[in-house]
Amino acid sequence: MAAIGIDRVTAALGAEIRGVDLREPLAPAVVREIEQALLEHGVLFFREQDIDPEQQKTFARHFGEISVPPFAPKHGSDPEYIVLDQVAPKGQGADQWHSDNTFIERPPMGSILKAVKLPPVGGDTCFASSFAAYEALSPPMQALCDGLRAVHDITRPLQKAIEHGQSNEDLEQLQQRFPPVEHPVVRTHPVTGRRGLFVNRNSTTRIVGLSERENEALLPFLCDHVRSPAFQCRFHWDTHSIVFWDNRSVQHFAVADYDERRVMHRVTLEGDEPH
Ligand code: OGA
Ligand code: MN
Repeated sequence: MAAIGIDRVTAALGAEIRGVDLREPLAPAVVREIEQALLEHGVLFFREQDIDPEQQKTFARHFGEISVPPFAPKHGSDPEYIVLDQVAPKGQGADQWHSDNTFIERPPMGSILKAVKLPPVGGDTCFASSFAAYEALSPPMQALCDGLRAVHDITRPLQKAIEHGQSNEDLEQLQQRFPPVEHPVVRTHPVTGRRGLFVNRNSTTRIVGLSERENEALLPFLCDHVRSPAFQCRFHWDTHSIVFWDNRSVQHFAVADYDERRVMHRVTLEGDEPH
């Protein structure tokens, strides 16, 4: 018998998980089912999980090692525990389709985000399946993309974070520590083998080998392809909701439609090199 309850959200991705209390130690069977559900549905939604930072980190460690992102909002003191604290989210970076930190060689495998304080309305998060996006491309477009690689660069997202007072890192120092990296435009999921589009407007700056004009035509098209609602689901948070997404196969978009304080706590998991 299954240890957890799973309610799918859309045909493309997403599942609400029932019957799990993250304050309690998780049985190995439960961990395995959550892991399997993440692979199948890409993003998992848990409700009413009033857990503290240590419990959130304990939950995360069942699925991998916690990573320290190259830069993060400057609130809080634990580098493994990211505090997002926003009142004017427009243009701060997450209100654009993206996967997290693709500008490093081994972008995160996933993130576990918890709602701590929410505005009275607004502040939903949208998720999109990069598998569904890739599979909706025509075979000739898929064949073209299959052979391409793209450059991902920390500069733009870091500049935005500094500009909006979300980071006090030194731009040049971090650019030197994290020079631009190349990833395949179409990434094969390391566990399931399913292929998905792996470019985003936050960090991807150009497709390798294309002329300037070709790049200008193709890269925005591929980044924006994920915008179709057919590939998406949307999550409305309650306080103590927790979302766990597979950063290898899912993009997300934080809707910037609120002007009262929103506080979220995130733990990020180490990933591997995309192939
Ligand atoms: C993130 C992110 C979305 C949100 O934590 O990486 O993009 O809704 N958050 O806060
Ligand atoms: Mn993000």
